[in-house]
Amino acid sequence: MKKILVATEKPFAPIAVDGIRRVIDQAGFEFALLEKYTSKEQFKEAVQTAHALIIRSDKVDREILEAASNLAIVVRAGAGYDNIDLQAATDHQVVAMNTPGQNSNAVAELALGFMVMMARNNYNGSAGTELSGKKIGIHAYGNVGRLVGKIAKGFGMEVFAFDPFVDASVIEADGVTVLSSVEELYKTCQYISLHIPANDKTKQSINYELLMSMPHGATLVNTARKEVIHEDDLLRVMSERKDFRYATDIAPDCLQQLIQEHPGKFFATPKKMGAQTEEANINAGIAAANQIVDYFTTGNTRFKVNN
Ligand code: 3PG
Repeated sequence: MKKILVATEKPFAPIAVDGIRRVIDQAGFEFALLEKYTSKEQFKEAVQTAHALIIRSDKVDREILEAASNLAIVVRAGAGYDNIDLQAATDHQVVAMNTPGQNSNAVAELALGFMVMMARNNYNGSAGTELSGKKIGIHAYGNVGRLVGKIAKGFGMEVFAFDPFVDASVIEADGVTVLSSVEELYKTCQYISLHIPANDKTKQSINYELLMSMPHGATLVNTARKEVIHEDDLLRVMSERKDFRYATDIAPDCLQQLIQEHPGKFFATPKKMGAQTEEANINAGIAAANQIVDYFTTGNTRFKVNN
């Protein structure tokens, strides 16, 4: 019998785990659960007998894949799959998939929540500002970016986007103004919401020049990945610009310095929680389970991300 392991250092909501278990039971497969593991050894041991794996931001590297000698498929219940060594998966003939769009609304809601929090000075009681009438730039118009634009319009914001991989007509159809370069986006918008993946091209790409070019009252919101920020540049910008604010869902390496030097202009969640809602967990977890069942029963590889 095929064994499907859910391995999540940061657990899904119990209601989502129940849903995943139901899908697996109904398909006649075996369900296994490893939550809140504290060492790689525990993960390696659990994966040894698994034929399929459901993960979140859990790192699936070559060592894990080597330990997983029965593994045929790993599904990242979420959008970003930079936590999977895709080459190693391919080398071990393991199919890697994600579940695009399933947790996007939760992340988009958090991004707007961060903007309100920054606009109201971290709720410190002083007079803040409003989002209405402000310009927001969506940096990458994927599933999350698109929803951020939709919610931002509800706040009365003017929405702009830059995404070289999405046809301008698709963005314009949502009533969003397309800008032709990343420089133009940062120069135009007081609020920037980051939705770029972390890869060789994007790592450390959010730099001094871009951040310094933002209009007065600049607020950068990062619900994407910490690696896309050039942290030394961010620190420099925050020192040079008293009006600059940064809110992030992914604690930066320079966290302590930001807390000490820029209190009130900065916020980071204690643990990444953009996708941490019951709804997102249910959607992404059950989609992952269904994709695995479908792969084993019909060979469907629709959401495959490796070669
Ligand atoms: C994603 O890529 O889907 C998000 O970053 C969510 O990650 P998480 O499942 O670890 O919360």
